[in-house]
Formats: sequence, structure tokens, C-alpha cells
Amino acid sequence: MGEYQGPDRRKSVTTLESYKTSDSKPPPRTWRDRRSDLLTSLGRTTFTAAKFNEIPPGDIFVPIQADEILPQIPIGNHHPVPRTGIEDDDLRTLHTNSFYADVFLDGQHQPIWLHPYAVWWGKGRQDLNIFPTWGMNIVQADEGDFHYGPGDVSKVFISPHKQSLILSAAELDPQTTLTTDNHLPFSVNINLKVQNEPKITFPVVQGIAFITAGYRNAMPTIQTGGKGYTDFSKAVMLGRTAKYRVKDYENRDWLIYVNPVSTMTYDSARFIKIDSNTLLGPPAFRGTIQVARNPLGAKGEAIYDRAAGTFASEARLTAVAHDTKAMYSFNYKKVGKSPLLMFALPHHIQSLDPDLRPQMTDIRLRTSTKGFRTAIWTDKLTCLETNLPSTMSFGPWAPSMSANVKIRYPPDVLAFISATAERDLRRTMNEPIPPDSYYYAGKSFARFANILWVIKDVLGNDTLLSAGLAKLQKELGKYIDNQQRYPLYYDDSWKGIVSFAGFRDPLADHGNTYYNDHHFHFSYFVYTAAVIGYLDPRWLEQDGKDQESSSEDGFASYAIKMWGKVIGDANMEKRANLMLAVQARSFNTYIYLLHNSDIHPGRYTPNGLAGILFENKIDYTTWFTDDPAIIHAAHMIPLNPSSILTRPHHFVQEEWDTVYSHGGAIDNVQDGWKGVVYANLALIDPRQSFKFFRDGIDGYWDERWIDGGASRTWYLVWAAGLSELDTRKGSVASSKDRWPSGLRR
Ligand SMILES: *[C@@H]1O[C@H](CO)[C@@H](O)[C@H](O)[C@H]1NC(C)=O
Repeated sequence: MGEYQGPDRRKSVTTLESYKTSDSKPPPRTWRDRRSDLLTSLGRTTFTAAKFNEIPPGDIFVPIQADEILPQIPIGNHHPVPRTGIEDDDLRTLHTNSFYADVFLDGQHQPIWLHPYAVWWGKGRQDLNIFPTWGMNIVQADEGDFHYGPGDVSKVFISPHKQSLILSAAELDPQTTLTTDNHLPFSVNINLKVQNEPKITFPVVQGIAFITAGYRNAMPTIQTGGKGYTDFSKAVMLGRTAKYRVKDYENRDWLIYVNPVSTMTYDSARFIKIDSNTLLGPPAFRGTIQVARNPLGAKGEAIYDRAAGTFASEARLTAVAHDTKAMYSFNYKKVGKSPLLMFALPHHIQSLDPDLRPQMTDIRLRTSTKGFRTAIWTDKLTCLETNLPSTMSFGPWAPSMSANVKIRYPPDVLAFISATAERDLRRTMNEPIPPDSYYYAGKSFARFANILWVIKDVLGNDTLLSAGLAKLQKELGKYIDNQQRYPLYYDDSWKGIVSFAGFRDPLADHGNTYYNDHHFHFSYFVYTAAVIGYLDPRWLEQDGKDQESSSEDGFASYAIKMWGKVIGDANMEKRANLMLAVQARSFNTYIYLLHNSDIHPGRYTPNGLAGILFENKIDYTTWFTDDPAIIHAAHMIPLNPSSILTRPHHFVQEEWDTVYSHGGAIDNVQDGWKGVVYANLALIDPRQSFKFFRDGIDGYWDERWIDGGASRTWYLVWAAGLSELDTRKGSVASSKDRWPSGLRR
């Protein structure tokens, strides 16, 4: 503790009440007020508000609990990362991991990925090959545009930054600033300002069919990069909307729709080409300009014509779930009178509500790293998932299993597990929890908790349990009291909980203080709390806390599911079940690549896995090694009941054959990764897996084969349990019940 120079708690600890009332200024106008100003100034007042606000009965997206900062957590507002250009009021939680975070971080000129379009601010950059602009660059790349690594099978591809079209204004100059407001999970407004007056506002929502720019008293310019336009047609009038067909510098077709406010007289002939790269509009223009890539000629144009004038400004997620089935919807807030056209991702199309199938159009555009997106007519995108792991609990699981089934292990297996568990528990109780890292501490806690679960539910040894449980509660108690080496801190700048460690060293603890990988770090704590709460329900009454991470990681969802189950929060468990079902689908669409997968370019697919999936590139690697055996194993860890849902037999088998059994590669896998890979083998061959964890190799066992987040005890139970379930599989009829009527509205 000596070296820790943390905040002086007497000075910095502030209750939320005193924090809020210490501000004597009048409450700031909310972003919603400002938002309606914006729409009025663009001549837009019509919303589909009634439909947007429609919440289905039984919606599972309900608040967990009223926000309260626990008294043992100090508050600070000096996060090292500045909130560049953020205009929402200061009480708002910001989305540090959202698709648009790059517009308020660093230089503000990195792309944000709406799919199929990306937009990035030019910021006057003069780099080689960049057309200098203070406006917004729009890019949509095709497969042939990607930059590939060497070889017929390329281990990496990158989607390029291009300047297909640029929405700008003559007024934008080197004093231009970029600000954002209305930060929501699926949308944000991006403003380009001159002398603090927003000249252009881009309302961006994931999946929008047009990039829409709202102009306020500005002289629009629409540009293309490179050698300039290859074609520019005369205006076609659609009511008050003027449509222009252009071909960008790569000879690709785009449509431009100019929608002036109703009070403005607009002369369509005023949009003129002043040089090869630039179309210039009339001065003091007010209204929206929308652009879209048209891959389908007249057919595509007819679709876009019908949608022009309307845009989505927000999206809201709702869902209902019952047992293994759920229905989730993105409700879009539509501005304008035309029907709304949106792009759906491949995993949405796979699970699309059958009622929406007739609304799909033939417009498909390539995204950077998510395959093709399909345009669909709807202001409510609804998908059905029928594979929720509602019966999954702490132990080995099969989708056909009913709830509360106890697996019966053979006596010799139990005896071996019992001896191993006793050893593992003794070792775990004597090893300190790693003090410098939430990630490693979490793994240590989760291993400890998991051994105790085995002792209770598999072995039924209460004597052994009680000693271990007391020790685990004591160790976790230090973290609950925030007395660990690097305490948690409530960061009042971004509104989250972070480790103090990174206030000195940004890279400390895998970037925890910078909100990196919180779902990895804290899911192990949530899981540990769920196990303790299950083993000792009274413990839950001593401690009313909760940790939630919005996460794309299976174990994090599983930990939340089990926490929800144990504390009796049915909606939390349903949300996690739905997250797991969507994750299972999307991992198998975008990340696990069978030889016949067609989502990514053919030149990448034979790698078999999207090693690191970025927004603009996919790289068959990890952050620490290029060894294929480890690249794949990094997508297995930690083996837990949700792995059974997310990692299907056919993928695991193909991966095993090509990566591990081929050429005996498994023999060269070292350390904890060996245990991970053998535990993964249990998904297709649980007997072989059990044999490894019981007998080792040629009778030799090395404890280093067990990763710090797992134990030999767990792996034995895992493999033995899956063996038992595998044996029974033939006799359990799979339930293909029909959609329960209560869910359809
Ligand atoms: C529980 O474990 C301890 C230590 O291995 C052992 O002595 C005891 O017999 C076990 N009790 C039961 C009921 O299995």
C-alpha cells in the first residue's frame, strides 16, 4: 500500500447529493431542447414520435437500479482523456466504446463506421493523396478496393479511407470546429461550426440509407476526391426536391437529393460545377442534402427516390423474451414524410421477422468488415432469436437439457474430481490474488469461485465448501470495500468506474482506466459474485451493488445472466440470454469462418477465423502472438457453459482438423493454452478431453497447462459432464415448439 498515491479520500469523497447541489448555475438546457431547435431550423417538425416511443409490454430493457455512486468510491473529474467537442450536458453518461467515439477522441478525423457508409472529417489535412477539405468525407468501399496482405490467402485486409463524396460548405475554413451532441447508443449528431455557429449538422445512425447533412445558412459544396467527377447530370425535380446524378472520381454512381426548407425558394439550376471536383450550391441555403451510392441503376434510383427527404435521427432497442425465444426491435425515430429506408446487417437478415421479408429491397452494399448490408423499408427493424440458453446454469450444459437437471458422474470420475478439487482449493487458498491488475485478479477470483461451485454442486462436500467460501468472501470483501491496491474511482468526466492505476500510466492494467476491455476485466468479478450469491444467498443482502458492462463478449453476458439468475432479476437474465443468442449468431457469421463462408472476401476466408475484427480491417493475429494455434485459442478462453452455445460442433470440428490435429500441432501448444485447447476439444470429443485432464500425456501431468482463470477441477467436470450429456443426447427429443402467441403483437 506504501507506494499508492491515490486521492485524499477526505477531500475527494463527495456524495452524489452534495456533488449535484454544489453547482449553483441554473440547470443547462437539455440536449433534447437543442435538438428540437435544430429540426425547426431545418424546417422539420414531423416525427413518428408515437411509434418511436412505443414500448412493448414486458420490454426487458428496464433500468437495473437507480444510479447511485457508492460511498466507498471516490469521485473525480480529471480523467486524462479530454472530452473534445462534446456538447451534451454534463450529467449525461457517454458511450466510451461506441461506433462514433473517434469523433470526440484525439484528432477527431478518424472514420466512424455506419455500415455500409463511413464518414470522416477532412480537418484541412494536406497529406499526400488527400483532397484538402474542412467538410465531411463519405466512403463506401467494394471488395476490390480493399488493401490485402501478401499471398493468395491473405492474413489481413484493410478497407481504405476514400473521398467518394465530400459534403461541405463554402463557409468552412481553418477555424472550423467539430462538435457532437445527442450522444445515444446508436446515434449522434455531428456539427461543423464556424465561429460557434453550426453550419452543417449530420444526424448519424448505424445503418442509414443516406448520409444526410442539415445546412443552416450556408453555401453547400459537394465534392469528390481524386481526379474529380466523371459525370454530373442536370437536376430532376421530385416535388420540391432536386435530384442530381453524379459519378464520383472512380466512376461510381451516387445520387444527391437537395431538400430546401419550405420557406425557401430554390432554383435547381443554382447547383453548378465550378471545377472538376466541386459542385457549388446557392448561398444561405437551409434544408437537407442527402447522398447515397446507387449500385443498381434505374431500379436503385426508384428506391432511393421514394425514400428521399426522410432520415432517421435516433434508434431505440426494445425486446421481449420468453423461455428460449425472443424478439428484438430497433425503433427508428423518423424525420420526414417519406417511408424510411435502412440497411440491415447479415445477422439481422438471417433472423429477420418473416413479416419484414417483403420489405427487403435489392440494394446491397459492401461494408468494410461485416459483409453486405441490405436496404429494407422499415422504421422498426425486428429480428427473432429462437435459441436462447434459458436452461443454462453453472455447469456443463446441452441445449436440449431441461432446467435443474443434475448430471450423474460415474463413481471413479467423481473420486478423481474430488481429489483434484481438494488440491486445487488448497493451492488457490494459499495463492495471493494478483494485486496489480483487475484482469488477473478477476481471473483468480473466478477460478476460486468455480472450484467452490464444483465442491458444492458436483461433489456435495459442505465441509470443504465452508472454509473456501469464507476465504473467498474475505478476499472479495477487500474489493467491495475498495481497499485493494489500486482503488476504483468514479470518473465524472465520462461517467464510469475506472481503476486508479492508469492515472499515472495509461497502459496500466490493459488500459482499464481508459475504458479498454471492461467487459473482460469485470465479467470475472460479476461471475464470482454470482457464484457466491448462489452458494450463500445471505451474502446478497449484505451487498446491494451491481456491475454491468455493455459487452460483445460471451462470458461477460454469461456472467450477467448468472448474476441476474442468482439475484432474481428475471429481465437481466433475459437480456443476457438474448445477448448470448445474438452473440452466438454473430460470432458464427463474422468471426468463425467455415471453409464455405461467404461473408468476408474469398482471399481472407481460408484463415478460418477473423482473428482481430476491427471496423476497417480484419487481421489473423492476436495482440501478443502470430501462432495460429493461439490465435484460435484466444477465441475459446474461458471455456464456460456459454461456449456450448456459441461454438457449434461443425465449426469446432473443422477448426480442430485444420489447426490442431493436422501435423500434430496440438503437441506444440504450451502452457495454459494447452489446457484451453483440450477443454475446447470437449465440445466435440469430451472423452478424449477428459482423458487428457485425468492422465496428462503419457502419464505425465504439468500444472502449467492450466490457465490462471481455470482449474484442473473445472476442466475435469466440464469434460466429464459433456461426456455424460453426449451419451444421453440420442434420447432427448429436441424441442421445436412454435412461437408462443404471447410474444407476437
Ligand atoms: C470432504 O472433503 C474432505 C477433504 O477431502 C474429506 O475428508 C471429507 O470426507 C469429505 N466429505 C464428504 C462428505 O465427502
